[in-house]
Amino acid sequence: MKHERSFDAIRLEQRGIHARDAGHHAEAETHFAQAVAHDPARPLSWLGLALSQIDLKRPEAAVASLRRAQELSPQSGVVAHLLDSLSGHTSSRAPDIYVSWLFNTYAEGFDAHLTRLGYQGPAMLHRLAIRAGWTANGSHSILDLGCGTGLSGLPFLSYAARLDGIDLSTSMLEQARRRGAYTELRHGEVHAVLRDLPAGSRDLVIAADTLIYIGDVADLFRRVAEHLKPGGSFLFTVETGEHGFTLAPTGRYQHSDDYLQACADGLFDFADRIEGTIRIEAGRFTPARAYRFTRR
Ligand SMILES: C[S@@+](CC[C@H](N)C(=O)[O-])C[C@H]1O[C@@H](n2cnc3c(N)ncnc32)[C@H](O)[C@@H]1O
Repeated sequence: MKHERSFDAIRLEQRGIHARDAGHHAEAETHFAQAVAHDPARPLSWLGLALSQIDLKRPEAAVASLRRAQELSPQSGVVAHLLDSLSGHTSSRAPDIYVSWLFNTYAEGFDAHLTRLGYQGPAMLHRLAIRAGWTANGSHSILDLGCGTGLSGLPFLSYAARLDGIDLSTSMLEQARRRGAYTELRHGEVHAVLRDLPAGSRDLVIAADTLIYIGDVADLFRRVAEHLKPGGSFLFTVETGEHGFTLAPTGRYQHSDDYLQACADGLFDFADRIEGTIRIEAGRFTPARAYRFTRR
């Protein structure tokens, strides 16, 4: 009997996943609710239910579903991060498993999706390069942190003697590999990979829309500084925050200007900043900033 119950629950779970992929959130919620009614011991069904409740803007219901998922799967970093973001608890960064789960799911349609959202991250960083008066003479050694499918590397290709990328998501890296723009791609968490790479050799480090998954960036700034030549630049975007860093209900972090300047203190000089919007979400522009700091 238990076996049949699980089979029905998996089938309903799959229907929920398909409905959610198609943007039919109410239908997805119904399938996942039926799945948990059939077999309340499947954490994936509770997670699916929570995700559709988030899509339907019902955070309290989502928190209740996530708590059930967490009871069944206490180690799940995906569930923990979603619970943190919905309950106002600011963790220091998104767990690796959350980032790889999110972007492995997302990779196939990522570029098309971001085009629909009017994504501006790479363009904001490129504006900073233009304002700095750099010549696109193919001489720079560039490192792209959280390179994703490679959208962020493209505007910098003509500046690069070599362009290397790092990312946690194997599926995003696969898309970047197909694009063919990178000299070398490394799979891993940025702090860990930076620790293993030879230091002091880069003219430019870029991070477009990556710090939104890393709240506490103090250690990252130290590592980036180790990899830049004196006078080299660190270009990155953040979502605009008011105080320190905070984890928003979107699952992404926001950073304040004061916090970033404090992290840079002693390592970098502030060079430039652009205020703008990085994408459109639920009909609203997401306020963002792009920064250029130079290594002392
Ligand atoms: C929103 S995407 C942006 C991708 C790309 N930079 C662009 O502008 O299109 C964020 C990327 O950062 C990666 N990422 C987030 N946190 C990371 C971390 N701590 N270490 C390595 N990669 C990370 C994700 O896997 C994802 O591919």
